[in-house]
Amino acid sequence: MNNIKNYVQEHKERFLNELIELLKIPSVSADSAYSQDVINTAEAVKESLEKAGCDLVEICETPGYPIVYGEKIIDKNLPTVLVYGHYDVQPPDPVELWTSPPFEPVIKETPKHPEGAIFARGACDDKGQMYMHVKAMEYMVQNDSLPCNVKFMIEGEEEVGSPSLSWFVERNQEKLKNDVILISDTGMISNTQPSITTGLRGLSYVEVEVTGPNRDLHSGLYGGAVANPINILAKMIAQLHDENNHITIPGFYDKVEELSREERDEMAKAPFSLDEYKKALDINDVHGEATYTTNERNSIRPTLDVNGIWGGYTGEGAKTVIASKAYAKISMRLVPDQDWEEITELFTKYFESIAPDSVRVKVTPHHGGQAYVTPIDSTGYQAAAAAYEESFNIKPIPVRSGGSIPIVALFEKELKSKTIMMGFGLDSDAIHSPNEHFGVFNYLKGIETIPLFYKYFTEMSK
Ligand code: BES
Ligand code: MN
Ligand code: MN
Repeated sequence: MNNIKNYVQEHKERFLNELIELLKIPSVSADSAYSQDVINTAEAVKESLEKAGCDLVEICETPGYPIVYGEKIIDKNLPTVLVYGHYDVQPPDPVELWTSPPFEPVIKETPKHPEGAIFARGACDDKGQMYMHVKAMEYMVQNDSLPCNVKFMIEGEEEVGSPSLSWFVERNQEKLKNDVILISDTGMISNTQPSITTGLRGLSYVEVEVTGPNRDLHSGLYGGAVANPINILAKMIAQLHDENNHITIPGFYDKVEELSREERDEMAKAPFSLDEYKKALDINDVHGEATYTTNERNSIRPTLDVNGIWGGYTGEGAKTVIASKAYAKISMRLVPDQDWEEITELFTKYFESIAPDSVRVKVTPHHGGQAYVTPIDSTGYQAAAAAYEESFNIKPIPVRSGGSIPIVALFEKELKSKTIMMGFGLDSDAIHSPNEHFGVFNYLKGIETIPLFYKYFTEMSK
């Protein structure tokens, strides 16, 4: 398939420009101020699938944002690949920390991307990675080399927990029938050492509210005599970990899958430099659960983190006040065999139990999902490994990621097929952060590698 390399080189400028146009639409699913932009993005994705050569493309309405469905069925007896991706993006905040506006894409060089990287919200997560599949499809259709059937399901609510996708999947099992699900919404180790994501963590996301007195109080007149909800919340949060950074919620670890020494040793073979890791983040030391390495802490171990905390006076100057309420948003990343709904319950019970009588607490679950692991002896994994090996000239390493795509576990349950995660982003691409970017090399290499997956998957399925 040397042709794909030539095709990519020939059409490189157009591939970049098309992605740049898509990145200009601010499809922020979390913020209703952008709702028309989210809908317009679905329309743009639909058009791109039509142009790439899908025979049928539909905008499927849901209770939330639409799902774009496309397909090209060449022969019912051939295997079917279902591509999943998302066209929504995270909010760009804090906007002032971007070196160029988040929805005005520009290409700039970075130390990890000497060939340049596209800077924009969604460049890597996931518009850029999703669009690689559209361009790979275009190539296979133009070159008459599509070896099997393809279906696309591109959603617009991934960054808010995919509330409508399960609704859609449950109602469209026949339409979505496939032999393998292919997703590019994760990362790889480096541009010279590709990896395939074999695991994702689950998630339980909650919001807590601590209420003290029925109104904000003068901190001189009442201070010392009435519980300050912010002080109490800080103390309660601190109680959620012990001195070994273990989570203290009773029952939290009961179902956690323990990896064998051999599996952990195998994992430790992936190239990793703790010094570089610290340097990249400007930290003097790492932090985490005792007896686990950094790579274990962020992949095979569950965690609990405060994502936001607020209350009281945060404006300019000083205001002497004891707030009536304090709030925090808390996420727990989960590993195989932990059930997110059960963990949400355990959290709620424990959090309520550690609250002193001087305050009231309310826990509101947001969303969640189960962890996922995929075996490396499946046809899908083997095909992906062969594709990377051919395009990068080096064998990819299987890696468990710390991130979550909660819908993947549901795909396995509802559609009974394995998901293969061919991610082309780097950890340094700043997804969800200011200055998100996606390497030009990575984008083009993705377009080059995907058709090889189709080729090997079809061959190996025979
Ligand atoms: N693409 C990410 C998940 C990801 C990134 C997995 C890198 C592995 C490596 C996805 O868009 C995401 O951000 N997921 C959320 C969960 C969702 C429910 C909001 C996450 O992991 O926080
Ligand atoms: Mn994503
Ligand atoms: Mn994301």
